Amino acid sequence: MVAGEPPGPSPSAAVHPSQRPRQQRLRRRINNFFVYRAIRKAIRDCQPAGPVLMAPCGYGWFLDRFRRDGIEVIGVDIEPQAVAWARAAVSPPFPVFQGNVLQLPFVDGQFEFVVANRFLLHFEEGFRARAFRELARVTRRHLLVHYDAVSLHHLWRRLRGVRKPELSDHEMQGWRQAKRRERRLFYDPQLATAEGAAAGLVIRGLYYPWHLLSERVYCLYEKATL
Ligand SMILES: C[S@@+](CC[C@H](N)C(=O)[O-])C[C@H]1O[C@@H](n2cnc3c(N)ncnc32)[C@H](O)[C@@H]1O
Repeated sequence: MVAGEPPGPSPSAAVHPSQRPRQQRLRRRINNFFVYRAIRKAIRDCQPAGPVLMAPCGYGWFLDRFRRDGIEVIGVDIEPQAVAWARAAVSPPFPVFQGNVLQLPFVDGQFEFVVANRFLLHFEEGFRARAFRELARVTRRHLLVHYDAVSLHHLWRRLRGVRKPELSDHEMQGWRQAKRRERRLFYDPQLATAEGAAAGLVIRGLYYPWHLLSERVYCLYEKATL
């Protein structure tokens, strides 16, 4: 192993997460298809120059799709194992750095387009405010942020009384300590406008993977100074 490099995947995790049975289920695959399409549409609408920053990038399930579509990506994630997986997601790999979203290893305005997928909505207000400011620092134009959306599927689950339990103490270890115990943060125009404004951003549009059935929505922010 090269000094400073994260360790490779452990033997127990020999199968890339994107290839695990859970990811292969039909519903998951359909959902991933529409989610990726919404993110790609936002990127294409903005036509960013240079690579898109995925912060965080997790294990990089979408990196193969970005490669296929000719969209250059740079990834960053706090977990060495996630970084190792993201580097193994496509060959040749996209540049993936180990780092904290609260202190990104990039200069001001390095990227024209930054994506925060499946991330900010999990965290409590104070963390989100700091992360928003840091993500706004490294983008010189756009930031795409994932929120939960009220969907038919969600309403149906609520009618049936299906509710995911709040996070347990065990699930609040390490970086998860800053997480919200409640699992969902629904898009609210007032909240989104306020947290964007506090980081110098204004809302430019919303992207739904699929209307009514979608459990998420992507909010496109732009630097207010542009
Ligand atoms: C639910 S995953 C989402 C990953 C990716 N955005 C995606 O859509 O696949 C959350 C990721 O956030 C990373 N993470 C948590 N706290 C972080 C932080 N402060 N800085 C950078 N990455 C962080 C975790 O390691 C994990 O890979």
